[in-house]
Amino acid sequence: MSTKEKDESRPMTEEADFLQIKSINHVHFYVGNAKQAMYYWWKAFGFKPVAYSGLETGNREFASYVLESGNARFVVSAPYSPSSPLASHHMLHGDGVKVIALEVEDAEKAWQATTSRGAKSAWSLREERDDFGIYRTSAIYTYGETLHVFVDRSNYKGVFAPTYRPIKDNGTQSAGLAAIDHIVGNVQLGKMNQWVNFYHQVLGFRQLMHFDDKDISTEYSALMSKVMQNGNGRVKFPINEPAEGKRKSQIEEYLDYYLTPGAQHIAIITGDILDSVEQLRMNGVEFLRVPNAYYETLPDRIGSIKEDYKDIQELGILVDKDDEGYLLQIFTKPIQDRPTMFIEIIQRHGAQGFGKGNFKALFESLELEQERRGNL
Ligand code: FE2
Repeated sequence: MSTKEKDESRPMTEEADFLQIKSINHVHFYVGNAKQAMYYWWKAFGFKPVAYSGLETGNREFASYVLESGNARFVVSAPYSPSSPLASHHMLHGDGVKVIALEVEDAEKAWQATTSRGAKSAWSLREERDDFGIYRTSAIYTYGETLHVFVDRSNYKGVFAPTYRPIKDNGTQSAGLAAIDHIVGNVQLGKMNQWVNFYHQVLGFRQLMHFDDKDISTEYSALMSKVMQNGNGRVKFPINEPAEGKRKSQIEEYLDYYLTPGAQHIAIITGDILDSVEQLRMNGVEFLRVPNAYYETLPDRIGSIKEDYKDIQELGILVDKDDEGYLLQIFTKPIQDRPTMFIEIIQRHGAQGFGKGNFKALFESLELEQERRGNL
């Protein structure tokens, strides 16, 4: 198989970009304890709690908190009763991403455009009203039990959505996390192309890059990945599938514990990764560490950069470069008990890639963790 990092760079015609997605509106996690999950994103990742929904606001089904850091918005929700669909989701998957919400001009049109192209509907146009206006959504299924909710907030002036009330700011120490860069989905062996086609045909995305098992393999395991991007380039969804290796791929470990395909990691952009990672480490966030040997050859491989290589090594940050520039990135350990979802922190200096040059070192340290869990 040939390796070709960049597949296409032409801008998309308006016709091909029939969905006109503006951005990722929010990511909604279903968790076991929303109050404690809120505290984690607040105190560990420096997200500011902005809205709450629950018994006190008339929501008798689940407790929910909205948190923001820059343009990144996370929602964490937990059920009050075992009969809630959130409870069955949590029992099966543990904490995880249920919804990747996409902001659109018209939720009804988005639903029609996608379901007529083959998407499975979760709900057609839903209008929720309160004193602040009308909040319009519709939703379709993507991989596993994950949903894309189409959000139209153009006639809604409230904080987040109906039943949500603002939270008084009790002080948040930001870690400088500015926006979601990409969200990666893990799918089963042999299913990557099916989901790549789904994003192309049903949502009008185009393929930005692909990585085959030669790019992403260690002595033990491998994976393949294709990166899909929407019309305005603001939404990037890489899709991973496991590839045959001597031992268990990290993607298989994910699937064993999440039990269905699902979101594997969310990459969040920062304007100053040294500052952000220092802050996150102080807050107790645990990161993967590559062997020190990685840093011996790094300056030769990358050349001169603005940051100090000593600081980079101290914080365990990875660096990669392509024709357009370089990028710095680092990955957390899983953020819940099951070895499923994790977070990437990334800073881009021109480079539009995903850190291909780091895959090998990174996956070797990931496998070390996998081995400690008895799952390699
Ligand atoms: Fe990533």
